[in-house]
Amino acid sequence: MQLLDGKFVSEKLKNDIAAQAADFLKETGRKPHLVAILVGNDGASETYVASKMKNCEKVGFQSGLIRYDSSITEAELLNKIEELNKNPQVDGFIVQLPLPKHIDAEKVTEAIDYRKDVDGFHPINLGRMQRNLPCFIPATPYGIMLMLEEYGIDTTGKYCVVIGRSNIVGSPMSILMARNNNPGNCTVTIVHSKTPDIKEYTRKADILIAAIGKADFVTADMVKEGAIIIDVGINRVESAETKSGFKLKGDVKFDEVAPKSSYITPVPGGVGLMTIVSLLKNTLAAAKREVY
Ligand code: GUN
Repeated sequence: MQLLDGKFVSEKLKNDIAAQAADFLKETGRKPHLVAILVGNDGASETYVASKMKNCEKVGFQSGLIRYDSSITEAELLNKIEELNKNPQVDGFIVQLPLPKHIDAEKVTEAIDYRKDVDGFHPINLGRMQRNLPCFIPATPYGIMLMLEEYGIDTTGKYCVVIGRSNIVGSPMSILMARNNNPGNCTVTIVHSKTPDIKEYTRKADILIAAIGKADFVTADMVKEGAIIIDVGINRVESAETKSGFKLKGDVKFDEVAPKSSYITPVPGGVGLMTIVSLLKNTLAAAKREVY
């Protein structure tokens, strides 16, 4: 079993991004600029956004955080998005999800100029990704592809099962793994909450990507000997072991699944760190106008 080390790979990629950001500053007199909008104060979202901002600073990007109370109206949020779309100083921006129920997340996603949509959630980016055209790829799936690439894992001809069909991870992940590229070139199945017997599929998977958001969901009996296991889960579970009173757990029961696997990502220290690097890569590409 080999650990897919998100810390090592993300640090390496961040060094490369920082060097490119320094060159960009020399050439243009400005830094790549990412803005995040955070609505409300969901604990997990607060942590993710703070980490995104901190990492921008680390690689020499300009960053900005716009915070709103959860009572903000949809119209107010759409106005701010329009302002950011027009602001030439801003290369890319994201609206952290989830949003309060009274705001239509689909409307918000589609209001973002696809050329600044460094989350890759806009239907234009999603459609272009499916056709293998230049686009912004959603950060978590992109990070997983970068990790597979970094370890030189040939996925061609393999059977890949993705657990979960979210717009953010499961759905784009399945598209990427089926595309005519390596990593990719897989036969892909998505299983989800309405799949009658998930294990029937996962047991056959050469590559298993767990993005279901349930701690310890994938157990040893669900996994094929020698499989590659990618754990996207970041589940906060209560724990007496830590000072904060909770700890992070993946969707995979690591201790029993790891010995059966050929490669596996740990939680924390795996996919989560790659997600942030991918967002930085998309922002740099937006600043350099490499995509659009
Ligand atoms: N919520 C969970 N993951 C993400 C992400 O990658 N981007 C945004 N905007 N919200 C999220």
